[in-house]
Amino acid sequence: MRKKLTVLAASAALLLAASAYAQNRTYIGADKCRICHKVEHTSWAKTKHAKAMESLKPEEQKKPECIQCHTTGTKNELPGVQCEACHGPGSDYKTMSIMKDRQKAIAAGLIIPSEKGCVGCHNQKSPTFKGFNWAEMSPKVHDKKKKA
Ligand code: HEC
Ligand code: HEC
Ligand code: HEC
Ligand code: HEC
Repeated sequence: MRKKLTVLAASAALLLAASAYAQNRTYIGADKCRICHKVEHTSWAKTKHAKAMESLKPEEQKKPECIQCHTTGTKNELPGVQCEACHGPGSDYKTMSIMKDRQKAIAAGLIIPSEKGCVGCHNQKSPTFKGFNWAEMSPKVHDKKKKA
């Protein structure tokens, strides 16, 4: 029993440490990702995600109940639905040595998007909700680099 508790306490401490660490990750903005991902950036910039802040009227751009889904970051620090809204804050995975190793990148916070992340915004709380279909909508977020 005691051993079990110790293990529990230890894993709780680890979890706490991990989440404190995760909270230190910061959002670096789409321009930084563009340096290495031009295909994705150029196509993303043409979508409504990139201009989601501009869809809001000036007074709505100050309302937390609107900007939570029309911006990126835990403090809504970046305008629009940028790369990191779907792929996670980039401060710890942005370097080439980490990015080229998929496992390291994921450990450093890179998210490979799934439907779960999309429906965090595409849901009934959106005043204009039009429904969400992963198969139809996920290919529209940006073009992909052609495999060599
Ligand atoms: C210094 C260059 C560099 C920067 C900056 C960079 N990446 Fe990457 N990224 C790479 C490389 C290299 C790969 C692995 C090969 C590939 O997919 O091109 C990669 C892979 C990825 C993948 C694919 C992971 C997989 O295996 O499916 C995603 C998603 C990604 N990067 C997102 C981002 C985002 C978002 C940013 C900005 C926050 C960013 N990257 C910044 C170089 C970079
Ligand atoms: C941070 C919130 C947020 C997340 C996460 C998000 N979206 Fe969106 N999405 C929006 C908003 C806001 C709009 C409408 C933007 C506008 O019209 O101003 C939108 C619009 C779209 C559109 C229409 C784009 C167009 O140009 O007509 C598609 C397709 C879409 N989202 C797919 C997705 C998919 C797939 C995912 C997950 C991989 C996703 N979204 C994740 C907030 C989000
Ligand atoms: C839960 C996330 C969420 C919240 C909160 C939210 N939006 Fe959106 N917004 C979206 C998504 C997702 C879309 C894309 C259309 C949809 O809802 O399916 C969108 C689209 C829009 C559009 C583009 C026009 C359209 O019909 O597609 C406008 C304008 C808009 N929202 C205004 C607002 C305003 C004003 C508020 C605050 C009162 C707000 N949104 C709050 C997620 C949200
Ligand atoms: C609305 C959510 C969303 C946004 C915003 C977004 N992505 Fe993605 N990204 C995805 C999805 C979905 C995939 C496909 C995942 C899969 O294949 O399972 C993907 C795949 C990728 C990949 C791997 C495939 C490839 O293209 O080689 C890279 C790299 C990438 N994204 C980079 C970016 C960059 C850079 C930005 C910003 C300029 C960005 N993404 C913005 C959702 C998004």
